[in-house]
Amino acid sequence: MSQKNSQKTDLPFDVTQAVVSEALEQYIKQSTTVDSEVLNQKAPESIAKQLKVEELFHKGFQNTNQIKDFVNTYLEHTNHLKNPRYMGHQVAVPHDLSGIPDWIHGTINNPSSLYEMGPAGATLEGFMINWMLQQLGWFKGNDLTDFSRIEPNGSGILTHGGSVANLTALSAARAFAAPEAWEEGSPDDLVVLGPSTSHYSIVRALSIMGMGKKSFVPVPVDENEVIITSALEESYSQIKKEKKRVMAVVANACATSTGLFDPLDEMADFCEKNKLWFHVDGAHGAVALLSPKHKHKVKGIERADSIIWDAHKMMKVPSLCTAVLFKEQKNMWNCFRQKGSYVFHENEVVGMDSMPFTVECTKSALGTKLFWSFALEGEKGIVDFVENSFEQAKELYTYLKSNKNFFCPYPPQSNILCFQYKPETIDDQQQLALRYALINSGAFYITSCVIQGKRYLRTVLMNPLSNQEDFKALVKSIEQHAATLEQK
Ligand SMILES: Cc1ncc(COP(=O)(O)O)c(C=O)c1O
Repeated sequence: MSQKNSQKTDLPFDVTQAVVSEALEQYIKQSTTVDSEVLNQKAPESIAKQLKVEELFHKGFQNTNQIKDFVNTYLEHTNHLKNPRYMGHQVAVPHDLSGIPDWIHGTINNPSSLYEMGPAGATLEGFMINWMLQQLGWFKGNDLTDFSRIEPNGSGILTHGGSVANLTALSAARAFAAPEAWEEGSPDDLVVLGPSTSHYSIVRALSIMGMGKKSFVPVPVDENEVIITSALEESYSQIKKEKKRVMAVVANACATSTGLFDPLDEMADFCEKNKLWFHVDGAHGAVALLSPKHKHKVKGIERADSIIWDAHKMMKVPSLCTAVLFKEQKNMWNCFRQKGSYVFHENEVVGMDSMPFTVECTKSALGTKLFWSFALEGEKGIVDFVENSFEQAKELYTYLKSNKNFFCPYPPQSNILCFQYKPETIDDQQQLALRYALINSGAFYITSCVIQGKRYLRTVLMNPLSNQEDFKALVKSIEQHAATLEQK
């Protein structure tokens, strides 16, 4: 068969991919050693210059050596999540071979939202959704390759990230409470109840939906920012007095800042009693479901009407990949009441389209990435990873507790841990200064958050290589930077 070449620049496939593959292999080797820098942030002007952005943009790559230089320079200016001293944001530290599905997708570009545009990707999405539904007891088919939409099954789709997922789930909640909203706009009397510490994407979604920030009614939280369930009743009475209707009750599983879980079972009781839609934001912590050791932390999650679950946080999937899951499949079908004549012709298609149920029209092969993560390590490998991450946070907690200069406000329930150094003498701004000192040294990457008005240092332990030695080094480094700060 003769081959046509549709490209202008004739870069050889085999040499080019070998150059990139070699650079990535080197990157992995280097960044997994603790004496390499986690992050060395340079100004964008400097990075653009080193990457020869202007020249490459105008002239394009002329040969594979230019690609090699570009990739190596690019990799140098990255946050090295694979470094054991990366303890930062809720972003997966992927398996070394996790990039392969993105590479395949980038080569073939089969969006998985329309079955006929990517049958393999759509099949893997269907399989992974069935698996997730099964974890919740919402899959009643015979096996996970049974894609028929049988009545007792729940339903779900994969989408680009937790924020879009929350928007999708809340849209479904509105379609349930006020089906007329799709045509006529949101009624004024709808509100959403949730912990005051709900992720900002909840309020953002409500504003996007035209309901305004005012439609979110924050429920009081305790000193560690976990919802006070008894306060739900009070908030609900007030809402009813104001002649408003609750469109959904939102729970954190777990909270972004602290990693603590709201009491889902109690919240489910409240929702069941009052016949309210229960939405669990399990972006980070829904994975606790997979572990016999940690499952109790999400007890009641299966009583939710909708759940979001980020695979790019705790399932080693490179960003982005989030599931939106519904206990009742009709709620997904009713979510977006819109038809595009060129895409939606459900009776004629083979397989299944997810497009009618997503904010996105075109979407990436998300199911392939998620499936690949499991295929690389096996189902048990992912569960072990979750358990190990939770254990790492416990280890760090125990170690910090043994040092009187550190204050941890609560024992961790997940792999997120917040703490302060000498809170009696080091104020909020200095706590933050400590974070920047650590980051700027290149030795560690940690984050920070505010809990009940006080600034904390925050670690999210996602790297399987982080161990006791790294925790000791972290403490030592904080002590050293604090001593310098105190001298100033
Ligand atoms: C509880 C919670 N919900 C939603 C999100 C948003 O997810 P994403 O970053 O995938 O948009 C986050 C992100 O950290 C989160 O922690």
